[in-house]
Amino acid sequence: MSFTAWISLSLFFAITGTIPASMAKSIPTSEITVTLKLDWNVTDVPKPIPASYTTKVPNGTFLIDIMNKAADNEKEGPFDKYKSTYYSVMGYFITSINGTENNPDKSSYWMIYDEQTGASLRCGVSSYLPSNDSTTLFRFTKLPSDSSHGNNASTSGRCKKHSNLPTPSSAITITIGMDWNPEVIKKPVPPPYSTKVASGTTLREIINKAADKNPKGPFNKYTSTYYGGQGHFITSMNGAKENEMDMITVTIAQDWDVTIVDKPIPAPYTTQVPQGTILVDIMKKAADEDPQGSFNKYSTTYYGGLGDFVIAMDGIQEDPAHKRYWLIKDKESGHLTPTGIDQYQPKNGSTTVFTYETGASHYERLTRA
Ligand SMILES: *[C@@H]1O[C@H](CO)[C@@H](O)[C@H](O)[C@H]1NC(C)=O
Ligand SMILES: *[C@@H]1O[C@H](CO)[C@@H](O)[C@H](O)[C@H]1NC(C)=O
Ligand SMILES: *[C@@H]1O[C@H](CO)[C@@H](O)[C@H](O)[C@H]1NC(C)=O
Ligand SMILES: *[C@@H]1O[C@H](CO)[C@@H](O)[C@H](O)[C@H]1NC(C)=O
Ligand SMILES: *[C@@H]1O[C@H](CO)[C@@H](O)[C@H](O)[C@H]1NC(C)=O
Ligand SMILES: *[C@@H]1O[C@H](CO)[C@@H](O)[C@H](O)[C@H]1NC(C)=O
Repeated sequence: MSFTAWISLSLFFAITGTIPASMAKSIPTSEITVTLKLDWNVTDVPKPIPASYTTKVPNGTFLIDIMNKAADNEKEGPFDKYKSTYYSVMGYFITSINGTENNPDKSSYWMIYDEQTGASLRCGVSSYLPSNDSTTLFRFTKLPSDSSHGNNASTSGRCKKHSNLPTPSSAITITIGMDWNPEVIKKPVPPPYSTKVASGTTLREIINKAADKNPKGPFNKYTSTYYGGQGHFITSMNGAKENEMDMITVTIAQDWDVTIVDKPIPAPYTTQVPQGTILVDIMKKAADEDPQGSFNKYSTTYYGGLGDFVIAMDGIQEDPAHKRYWLIKDKESGHLTPTGIDQYQPKNGSTTVFTYETGASHYERLTRA
């Protein structure tokens, strides 16, 4: 018990110590302009090459998030469906874009280059940060038979390692198993693997963690398919085929007393997500679709065993002096969510309300009961 408290306390101080907690998401970063471009030999791939996509993103946005933004903005766009394989520490590598798939028999692969320098990326799309005014080129190409392809140039953007959060003491032990085609990966299928993770961790995070911790282990490579606006789905687990996801409709909303907060209450946001999507991912989706929107800026505090709770949102900070706090409630039942935004999974048809109220904080209300 004291261990739990210590973990959550030290994490809280770690966050407040390095970045002022309430500022974490609101530090203004400069905007950069980035372009994504595709290319292939139309004799080999008889499809027209789509127009390039140019957008503005905050400096320090990962390439994968720009691809996902492109997918969300342009339904039917080339990035609406892509597949990737996760490699420990390096991140996701693209294996297929809109049906054009890596083909080892023909040595044809998706290669990603920085157009300005001609250098190919030295890391996966989830680790690469394009620079201002850069064009990132996704080229489906035949690799030369010798491995010393590419030039000595370096990319204008940079690779950034993932940072792993410490494992909270509320960890649960989970076991995952995996299967692959031994003709593609010339290794026997490994036994299932167990690891400790925070409860509520997504499957993707669990596998990535296992891969990062043990690059020689069985989970270093897995394949997933990204669906525009919906996220990554594992396409090979235990040999099971890609299956239809059960989609649910969820709404997130905000509420406050307009005599206390002198701002109109924003419109709720309703979307479709796979069943089991955690609240924070719905908030991220809302923020991606409307960068000016009210879910784009928020700060949280982490409590061991319960997760992340909102302490500021859309410029409205909690105010302990006046006992004003952000609470998260299920609208229909009026009940507080039992866990934070990184763990709570809204139900089909539900509305989750972030409400700024006077009284005790969400954490106090949950823990004194
Ligand atoms: C990005 O580059 C453009 C053109 O070179 C420049 O006008 C703009 O100010 C740059 N953006 C930032 C944030 O430096
Ligand atoms: C495209 O592929 C065809 C057949 O594989 C080849 O003959 C041609 O030279 C290629 N074109 C380019 C521009 O590489
Ligand atoms: C983006 O961030 C990097 C790293 O912090 C910095 O070196 C670069 O100058 C920034 N670029 C712009 C355009 O702000
Ligand atoms: C994606 O592939 C389909 C089928 O090959 C094609 O009809 C469509 O034009 C492609 N979309 C883009 C944006 O390239
Ligand atoms: C790359 O750098 C090495 C050593 O600096 C040099 O020998 C080689 O020729 C360079 N290769 C290319 C393609 O520039
Ligand atoms: C969610 O609710 C809608 C409308 O009631 C229904 O059509 C859909 O099948 C439900 N989804 C799941 C996964 O139960």
